[in-house]
Amino acid sequence: MKEHLVTFSNGQTLMVREDQNLLEACREAGIYIKSGCGGHASCSDCLIKITQGEDDLNSPSFEETQLIGNVFHITKERLSCQTKVLGPVSVDISAHDKSNDAEKLKTKKFNPPKGNVRKRTRDEVIAIKKERQDLGKEKEEKRNSWQKHWEREKDPSKAGGSGGNRRPKTFRTDFEENEAAKEESLIKTEELKTEDKKETKDS
Ligand code: FES
Repeated sequence: MKEHLVTFSNGQTLMVREDQNLLEACREAGIYIKSGCGGHASCSDCLIKITQGEDDLNSPSFEETQLIGNVFHITKERLSCQTKVLGPVSVDISAHDKSNDAEKLKTKKFNPPKGNVRKRTRDEVIAIKKERQDLGKEKEEKRNSWQKHWEREKDPSKAGGSGGNRRPKTFRTDFEENEAAKEESLIKTEELKTEDKKETKDS
């Protein structure tokens, strides 16, 4: 596999194979480049600036352009985890200062949640958990008892005296409606007949 010379802004030099990316090569050689995502093109921490030999690099990957855009020809910036070297290049890594980053990490403060946060002891937490579990069980039982109320109705010994648990019996209304309509039509025909008789008598 071919190797190419990379010259860094701090004066260090490195021979980088064509099949490895710049971040990998630097890690192997102990040259510090910051990386938050481990080389998965999702943090943009490993940004470097190419000062010479920009044509001797692979073209930016899809992931890289998604993250930093397709403006390499203007900014000369690349993600070192996505950059492969195909010829001699010079790279500016002055933005990557290990001691500075370590110091930042040390002084980084944990931001506690805002508002009044009450600290509870372990026993208190266990008691609260148990209370919630009991409440959940109680609710579950209630839900089940409601869902199966018709089974209780089947058992006459468990039927309530107030009748509140009983479902109303269904009844047909279409039959009664038909009967009423029949009666109405009969009355009408009777009336018509009597009217006809009257008319014949008068004539
Ligand atoms: S290491 Fe995260 S984008 Fe390169």
